[in-house]
Amino acid sequence: MRILYSEDYNKMSRQGANIVAAQIIVKPDSVIGLATGTSPVGMYNQLIEWYKKGDLSFKEVKTINLDEYKGLAKENPNSYYSFMYENLFKHVNIDLNNVYIPNGLNENITGECRKYNEIIESLGGIDLQVLGIGHNGHIGFNEPGESLEKETHYVKLSQSTKEANKRFFSSINKVPNYAYTMGIKAIMQAKKILVVVNGDDKKHILLDAFFGPVIPAIPASILQLHNDVIICGDKSSLKLIVDNFPLSVER
Ligand code: F6R
Repeated sequence: MRILYSEDYNKMSRQGANIVAAQIIVKPDSVIGLATGTSPVGMYNQLIEWYKKGDLSFKEVKTINLDEYKGLAKENPNSYYSFMYENLFKHVNIDLNNVYIPNGLNENITGECRKYNEIIESLGGIDLQVLGIGHNGHIGFNEPGESLEKETHYVKLSQSTKEANKRFFSSINKVPNYAYTMGIKAIMQAKKILVVVNGDDKKHILLDAFFGPVIPAIPASILQLHNDVIICGDKSSLKLIVDNFPLSVER
C-alpha cells in the first residue's frame, strides 16, 4: 500500500487524476471502476480538463460503477447514473454503451445482481478501481457487518450512510433505504485500487481502516490485503496517519 500525501483537495484530485490518466494512456481500453461522492469529483474535473486539452481520450475506456440506489431511475437527478453523467460522462468522449451502473429500477433483485456479476466477468475484471471511503468504513455500499459479501448484492443502507448522503436530497427521508452494490470480490480482484479521501471527518476511519485489524466491521480494512493500493489523501484526512505512522506517507 502506498499513501500519497497532498496539501489540499485540489492537489489530491490532481494526484488521483494522474493515476487514472496513466492507466488510460498505458491501456486505452482499460476497465475503470468508478465511485460517486464528493471525494472523486475534483479528480473527474481534472480528467475532463485533460480531455478538453486533447491529452486524454476515453474513446475505448469502459467504466463500471460501484453502486446505485434502489428505486431511482437513471434519469432521476439523484441517481448515481445522473451523478456520473453530470460529473464526467457528458464532458468526455466516452461511449455511453461502455458505461455500466446497476439498474436501480430492476425489481428482480437476484436477476440484477447476477447480471452485474456477469458484466464484470465479461469485461474481464477491473483494471483500476476508484474508491472513496464512508465514515463507517464502507466501500461501495458494502456496509459494516458480521461478514463481507463477495458478490454484487442488495443492501439496506446504514443510518450513518443515509446521514452522510442526505446532503444530495431535500431531506433524509428522501434518501433511498436500499441500494445495489458491487461486492468485495470484484473490488479485491481489481488489478489496482485507487482510494481518494479528503477532509478532517475521514481521519479516524482512515487510520482504523489501514492500520487497524482487518475486520468486516470496517469493510475498507480488507484493502490492506490487496497488493496494489494507492491512497491519495489530503492533509486533513491523513492527519492521524502522519502523526502515528509518519514513515508510511509519501510526500
Ligand atoms: C460512492 C460510494 C461510496 C462513497 C463513500 C464516500 O459510489 O460507493 O462508498 O465513495 O460514501 O463518499 P464521499 O466521497 O462523498 O465522502
